[in-house]
Amino acid sequence: MSQDKTATTDAVPILTGAGAPKKLHIKTYGCQMNVYDSERMAEAMGPEGYELTDDPAQADMVLLNTCHIRERAAEKVYHELGRLRPLKEARPDLKIGVAGCVAQAEGEEIRRRMPLVDLVVGSQSYHKLPAMVKAVDAGKKPVDTEFPLEDKFDHLPERPSTTRPTAFLTVQEGCDKFCAFCVVPYTRGAEVSRPAERIMGEANKLVAKGVREITLLGQNVNAYHGPGADGDWSLARLVRELAKIDGLERIRYMTSHPNDMEDDLIAAHGDEPKLMPYLHLPVQSGSDRVLKAMNRKHTASEYIALIEKIRAGRPDLVLSGDFIVGFPGESDQDFEDTLELVRRVNYGMAYSFKYSARPGTPAAERKDLVPDDVADARLQRLQALLGEQQRACQDAMVGRECTVLVEKPGKLEGQWVGKSDYLQAVHLRGEGLAPGVMARVRIVSAVRNSLHGELI
Ligand code: SAH
Ligand code: SF4
Ligand code: F3S
Repeated sequence: MSQDKTATTDAVPILTGAGAPKKLHIKTYGCQMNVYDSERMAEAMGPEGYELTDDPAQADMVLLNTCHIRERAAEKVYHELGRLRPLKEARPDLKIGVAGCVAQAEGEEIRRRMPLVDLVVGSQSYHKLPAMVKAVDAGKKPVDTEFPLEDKFDHLPERPSTTRPTAFLTVQEGCDKFCAFCVVPYTRGAEVSRPAERIMGEANKLVAKGVREITLLGQNVNAYHGPGADGDWSLARLVRELAKIDGLERIRYMTSHPNDMEDDLIAAHGDEPKLMPYLHLPVQSGSDRVLKAMNRKHTASEYIALIEKIRAGRPDLVLSGDFIVGFPGESDQDFEDTLELVRRVNYGMAYSFKYSARPGTPAAERKDLVPDDVADARLQRLQALLGEQQRACQDAMVGRECTVLVEKPGKLEGQWVGKSDYLQAVHLRGEGLAPGVMARVRIVSAVRNSLHGELI
């Protein structure tokens, strides 16, 4: 998952209520789930008369949708709040809200540290946002970090028209895995799968509005088991039913856990053409000793065997992963084992992080910390290896034909950007290109993080 990227939710057209529109600025941190949630919060505020703005200085309300995964991620929130202070002092009626995983984890504490915050809304309470904003208008400072029994998505307004050909769709939330280092089971709660019909309904509407690619989201998306009219649906069943929707060209899902990679999903990778040949399957470490201490409940060789099984059905599969270096007790040999696993698997793309102790997690109790300089050096070596593999994967595309889903205009005049089946950014030019076009392209060059293609 692409944490640590700070993205401003860009122009989602939203419904507007009566009166002059008020402006809402949302800043999104963390994973794709937060990106999806930010869109849904923007939509929830539409009927309240709020329109999105990219500029916090223009905003009547600023909402930070936060991430708690590593210390740096959590601290960003406080830095950003500090930067908002002059705005709030100049315009005391500016509303400032904190949403997302820091809100869930720290709740009231945020207001103690930053009294300028008007409301704190945890990740399961977004449907209550309009009511909370009204409470702020009435002079209150609401905090809601409940895990309510109802599904927040049932209480959010219908998704409005979109101008983008790709969409995220959350199908599962929460995590029961309790990896020793991770806050997600605490910030997002237990694993919950949304009912299959709701997802199918949402997908059908997205496609009717022009969406060509849907990425199914979940903290453990392949643990999806949702109630359907004819019983339990697995993720594979969901993928196969979605694939029947005319006009939907591509299906992706993220993020997955190796232990939830069931046979029917592996089979779908082999024979469902709309399921894209790109899989994000984090392993975290290549050392069995560290994997055990992390509570990952699988070994390195089991992971490698799993990858081989998936690749047997889909040989061109591009793999992506997440790694943590410097987990407490990680020895030089453990780290070498991680490098060895990376060499065996060969990733097209991967995220790697230095271990960050998170309050409340079991690993945070450990005293056998890896010195910072050792962890830094390991991270550098791992990133160098992963970088080489990513470049090799990009270079191997040169000369090949592939399909690109055009997403938006590029930075240069006449240029368009889209994604290959393998989720690589491709720049191209040509007649008839527009968002949503599926273009057949020959890749002519690979530069840094993108490919250049020519229309065939
Ligand atoms: N549910 C997903 C994503 C979890 S968070 C999964 O299981 O893969 C995304 C990534 O952040 C994790 O895969 C892990 O590599 C990293 N991460 C999580 N907690 C961390 C911590 N305490 N320190 C450093 N990296 C962490
Ligand atoms: Fe965190 Fe592990 Fe759950 Fe992923 S599987 S969200 S790393 S606890
Ligand atoms: Fe961060 Fe929460 Fe996602 S902690 S990675 S925003 S689930």
